[in-house]
Amino acid sequence: MPATTPTRSSSATKPYRPEFHADLEPGQPTPGIGEEDLNRFDHAGRTYAVYHGPDGAFYCTDGLCTHEQVHLAGGLVMDCIIECPKHDGQFDYRSGKAVRAPACVNLRTYQTRIAGDQVEILID
Ligand code: FES
Repeated sequence: MPATTPTRSSSATKPYRPEFHADLEPGQPTPGIGEEDLNRFDHAGRTYAVYHGPDGAFYCTDGLCTHEQVHLAGGLVMDCIIECPKHDGQFDYRSGKAVRAPACVNLRTYQTRIAGDQVEILID
């Protein structure tokens, strides 16, 4: 099935050029992300968290907690929730929604797709 191209309506002067990037090194298979677990992915000066949900799908959010910028990779994944390792704030990683204080600002989420044996995330 062909990948869909996301669209964005924007008045920004910079053209929207989404790119998919693999969250794993070439040749590293997706089982590198255990079910109900996450991988940290750093790219171009930014950091992300890629999750393998209990539904078998892969999800991606910004890697840093919106409360005090702690990396979520050290947190606990429970079902579809990521719990921040510093103050136990929680987010639904499917939507990015902050669901438990002190986290109150949602995480940004990114589209994912499977390409061969890798998970790729759409970074704009
Ligand atoms: S740094 Fe994540 S909840 Fe405080």
